[in-house]
This record gives sequence, structure tokens and C-alpha cells, in this order.
Amino acid sequence: MLIKVKKASDAKSSEITPHSVYLDRRKFLATAAIAGAGVAFGAIAPPAFAAMTPQMLPGVQKSKWTLDSVGEKMTDKDPVTKYNNFYEFGTGKTDPYKNATKFKTKPWTLAIDGAVEKPGQYNLEDLLKPHALEERVYRMRCVEAWSMVIPWVGISLADVVKRVGIKSDAKYVAFETLNDPKQMPGVRRPVLNWPYKEGLRIDEAMNPLSLLAVGLYGEEMPNQNGAPIRLVVPWKYGFKSIKSIVKMTFQATMPATAWNESAPQEYGFYSNVNPTVNHRRWSQAKERRIGDFLKRPTKMFNGYEEEVGQMYAGMDLRKLY
Ligand code: MTE
Repeated sequence: MLIKVKKASDAKSSEITPHSVYLDRRKFLATAAIAGAGVAFGAIAPPAFAAMTPQMLPGVQKSKWTLDSVGEKMTDKDPVTKYNNFYEFGTGKTDPYKNATKFKTKPWTLAIDGAVEKPGQYNLEDLLKPHALEERVYRMRCVEAWSMVIPWVGISLADVVKRVGIKSDAKYVAFETLNDPKQMPGVRRPVLNWPYKEGLRIDEAMNPLSLLAVGLYGEEMPNQNGAPIRLVVPWKYGFKSIKSIVKMTFQATMPATAWNESAPQEYGFYSNVNPTVNHRRWSQAKERRIGDFLKRPTKMFNGYEEEVGQMYAGMDLRKLY
């Protein structure tokens, strides 16, 4: 994501980007330029930042979303885990990897409330227990026009929704990330209106592609990728895939989202990958797969049109971006 640059006279005092963030942003742009040039990522982070040895997740089953079905090369683990957006740990691409090493993700409680039959504070392990973890290789497209192919591990969001039993007025689900200034240096600055918030329409949440991910590459989710549990919605721009979720609220009204609150003209609620609708400041027609030199055309719904297109039939996706 890019922080929107406004004229100074446009900004409310709460929105003025602190100088340190501006410097972070310059660092980020420099890193992005390196990424664009296709430089190897292993070189980005010195070993001093290396997190503890990742734990393999036991009993992970194959799903229908395999590398073969994607028909492409998997992105190397290094860029996936060292080149991140997780503003709670800093706005630079390598900040999350460096700053999230001590982030405490066990035990973890997920609050599920609103229009559900079984609201409550769910211990994450208990929530996961009845479900088999499965691996799903998804294409991921960031709004900044870079993309990756990532083998996630997780469970269907729909399975969790069915378990808590939604009521008829649950038209949307709102998600929230942990907001802990003690552990998350990024939330001490008003870069976004914390906590990070996202939302889905209920049919989107029930779509078989929507995943609650707890790992990648067969291993537990690294902190910088949104441990211990994050959303993955591969037909939408990356910012919809909210990390380190502590709350899910089922409700009748469209939820507020962090990026829509920050820059409504640039980030709508739906945020479906759509090569025909440009971002206000750049084209969305092409993308650069991390590791590739040349750009490739972006596909409608990130190539998942068959699975999700029907949900948007009859909608004007220019207006409902
Ligand atoms: N979730 C939270 N809580 N905070 C964030 O800053 N960034 C989003 C999304 N989820 C973000 C977040 C953006 S802009 C992207 S592109 C993806 O996470 C990046 O996920 P990755 O770092 O695992 O590739």
C-alpha cells in the first residue's frame, strides 16, 4: 500500500504523516525499486533478524488449489516472508520481518460476535481443532502491482461461519487486527485509523476460496505474515487479506475498512482485482511477479473469475471498486 500524499493544506492534524514515516516510505520506495529490478531477495535481511526455526504444521491435506492448478512457479519463501506489508510493525517492506520477531501469538483468542448463534471468545486452538488443515496455492496480487504465488495452509472461512451459525441479518462480516502499542511499534503512530479493519459481504465470506490461513510452505504462519491467523481472499487486492485477526463481527451493514477510511477515492470496499479499473494514481493493467523481470497482464479477479465472478453479476464494478 502507498500512503496517499495530499497537499499540506488538505490534511487534518491527525493525518499528517510523521517525518519518520516519510523516511520509512522513502526506504520502502527504494526497496520496491530493487524488487522491480528483479534482484534476489535473500540479500535483503541480515541473519541477525532471523526468527526462530519455523514449526512444520502436522497433518496438512492437499486441496484442489495445487501448484499444478495454478500452473505457475511458486514464489520463493524468502520474498514472501521478508518483503511484507504489515503497518503495525512499520511501513517499510522489511520492517515486519525485523520488528515482529517477539510478537506473542500464543495463546490467541478470537472474539466472534454480532448476528451469530454462538458468539464468544474462541481460543484459536479450539476453533481450529475440528477442521483438517489444507494447503492451497493461490496467486496473490497487491494493489501496488506486484504479485506472488503462495502455498497457504488454513481452513475455509465458510466452515467457521457455519460452526458459529449466522443469523439472517448477517449480511457482512467485519474483521479487526490486534491493536497493541506495546508489541506493535507501528500503531503508536497515526498512519492508519487503528485497529486495522477489513470486511467481506457474507457471500464472499462463504465462497470456497476464502481462507483463514495459519501457515505457509507447510509451516506455522510467520509473525510478519499475520500470525497466528489471517484472512486470504486471492481475487481481491492484498490489503483485504487482514492479518493477526482478533475479532469477527457479523452485521447487517457494510463495515468500515482501514484503507477506505484512509483514502476513500482510492480504496473501495470491494477491492476486487480488476485490470480495467485503474487506481487513481496508476494503472492496474499489469503486474510484476516477484522474481520476474518483465510485467505480465493482470487477469480479472486475479484469474479466479470462474469461482467468484457470479457474485458480482449486474454490479457496476467501476463504481463499486
Ligand atoms: N493486515 C494488517 N493488519 N495490517 C497491514 O498493514 N497489509 C495488507 C494485508 N493485510 C496489512 C494487513 C496489505 S497492503 C497486503 S499487500 C498484505 O497484507 C500483505 O501480506 P503479506 O505481507 O503476507 O504478503
